[in-house]
Amino acid sequence: MRVSPRNSPAFGTEAAAVETGGTSLAAVAPAETAPAEVAPERLGASRERLDGPAKVTGTAPYAYEHPVEEPAYLHPVQATIARGRVTSIDTGAAEAVPGVLAVLTHTNAPRLADTEDAELAVLQSDAVAFRGQFVAAVVAETPESARHAADLVRVGYGEQPHEVELGPEGGTPAARTDHGDLEAAMASAAVVLDRTYTTPMQHNNPMEPHTTIAQWTADGLTLHESTQGVYSVRSVVAPVFGLDPEQVQVFAPHVGGGFGSKGLPHAPLVLTALAAQRSGGRPVKFAVTRQQMFALTGHRTPTSQRIRLAADDRGRLSAIGHDALEHTARIKEFSEGSSTASGIMYAAPNRRITQRLVPRDVPVTSWMRAPGHCPGMHVLETAMDEMAQACGVDPVEFRIRNEPELDPLSGKPFSSRNLVACLREGARRFDWQRRDPAAGVRREGDWLVGTGVAASTYPTHVFPGSSARIRYEGGRYAVFIGAADLGTGAWTALAQIAAEALEVPFEVVDPHIGSTEFPTATVAGGSTGITSWGSAIVQAATSFRDQYGTQPPEGAEAEGATQPNPDAERFSMHAFGAQFAEVRVHADTGEIRVPRMLGVFAAGRIVNARTARSQLIGGMTMGLSMALHEHSVLDSRFGHVVNHDFAGYHIAAHADVDSIEAAWIDEHDPHVNPMGTKGIGEIGIVGAAAAVGNAAYHATGVRVRDLPLTPEKFLR
Ligand code: MOS
Repeated sequence: MRVSPRNSPAFGTEAAAVETGGTSLAAVAPAETAPAEVAPERLGASRERLDGPAKVTGTAPYAYEHPVEEPAYLHPVQATIARGRVTSIDTGAAEAVPGVLAVLTHTNAPRLADTEDAELAVLQSDAVAFRGQFVAAVVAETPESARHAADLVRVGYGEQPHEVELGPEGGTPAARTDHGDLEAAMASAAVVLDRTYTTPMQHNNPMEPHTTIAQWTADGLTLHESTQGVYSVRSVVAPVFGLDPEQVQVFAPHVGGGFGSKGLPHAPLVLTALAAQRSGGRPVKFAVTRQQMFALTGHRTPTSQRIRLAADDRGRLSAIGHDALEHTARIKEFSEGSSTASGIMYAAPNRRITQRLVPRDVPVTSWMRAPGHCPGMHVLETAMDEMAQACGVDPVEFRIRNEPELDPLSGKPFSSRNLVACLREGARRFDWQRRDPAAGVRREGDWLVGTGVAASTYPTHVFPGSSARIRYEGGRYAVFIGAADLGTGAWTALAQIAAEALEVPFEVVDPHIGSTEFPTATVAGGSTGITSWGSAIVQAATSFRDQYGTQPPEGAEAEGATQPNPDAERFSMHAFGAQFAEVRVHADTGEIRVPRMLGVFAAGRIVNARTARSQLIGGMTMGLSMALHEHSVLDSRFGHVVNHDFAGYHIAAHADVDSIEAAWIDEHDPHVNPMGTKGIGEIGIVGAAAAVGNAAYHATGVRVRDLPLTPEKFLR
């Protein structure tokens, strides 16, 4: 059954509650029986994407496709050593290639105004800090001649010893929280667990690679950029080139995914803008290749994480210890923050949480979907499964038994916390009570079958500093905000938020996003897009109605901005969820299959049931991918990622995903922001891999503590 938003009225959050959340929603949506008149919007409706038709007909312009006059094309030269200096560069053969306009090296590239951010200090010195770093670039009339000429650049190096591997120890402290006495609690507990787990290096792989068109004009720099934030690009890039922010124009109407890697500008953007300073005013285009992305656009650190848990004989935790070790590039410090979530998940009077960073000669680490929480909760939730087993308590019940009343770290109340409701609803839907608690007992032919559970959480934030403008013309409301839709459905959800706040039908609202021509907006990151931009839009709508009432004059305009939230200090604000998985492991080969995944989430009000479901199952699929496949393999001899393409770096494909369902609890949180939303971009991935791993243990009796769950790990 198809649900057409143009014919169906909005239906409220009641309809999007537990009974109708996720995949079952379409089956009960009142589309066919609905009256034809168009009602004011209410959040929770299932809306088709406004940008959908343009995308499926191939007319939505992505950054690289923006039509520009006489473009030139860039191809980079990357370092073939992991650490050292460039001692010589011979560009003669490259310059002789027909159509080559310029060859840039550290000796002739324009100087940047600000080189403090070493990731962005492109071609400013002879130093090489990781394999794959830019050492030169060719600009030419065609992409082919640029690439050919780049191959002809001869680079000599003075190589220095490098180190890229993360061991189990070392590092400098990045964060530490102590409550009570972890060691004493461990020494006196009835049941204890002390385990070290690892998660591998992983790479963001959006469908659309990072792309830039850069052009210098009399007014400054114009960028068509595949980015999660046009204003983030402006504010970072302007000082690097010594410009005022207003001299940098950034356009990103459509983005083909990012998962964090497009949250902040990386070196390819700066290189393209540098090259455009040598192109005689012509725009320069650069599409980073898939292989180049593995060195240039960020990645998730590998982690080594020690978990210590202590419990009494009834399965009540007395201590939680979580020590996370991560790598960071030597040239730019970035902490994933893997142990952070262990602060708020479960009650225990004794707690120690630490994070340590190990500098390595690796490319720059950065955001990847649910930074910190994704690898950290994987490990905590695997350990919780082990501990439930050791205590002889069902893993759903074990989590419920350790539910805290207040945020264990801050002592503040939660603005809303429905983890228990998610666990109970998930258990009901998954038929959990029929599960045999023993591991390795269910066999269907050659397949060992098991089920697993894990909890999920992600913090709820509103970033300050977004504003929106609403203009009324010809019976329609135009909403302007410099937000970005990286494929999440923001175009549509923002129109819904504006329509509800204006008390008008969805059909009369036209959103305008993805440009620095529109009012300032914060980045689409940390699951804050809708919460932050929506707050500004609600303010603008309120101001509009206060000024003009319900009969606005032609051309009426109002603005609004995100407001400080006094409740942010009083409450601990997080979304929660429960992930369930069924896993089959082949008894002879260790082949692993995941026939069913279910996620039940409590993430505040859901704006758009259709795009929310897409975000949640997208996150769960990425978690499945993390469980089964994703592993960037570093060659310690040379310092590069060996499997730097889709042949070697496997990502979950359709054949890996069978039944996958997302549902949500009807949660009303008056404290988080004016809409009551919590953000849904990242919580779907958190805990998904742990649910799969826990199910694989239940199927086989084999506990895999090092991701991914490849077949050989199940063969004894
Ligand atoms: Mo997301 S990793 O916070 O862009």
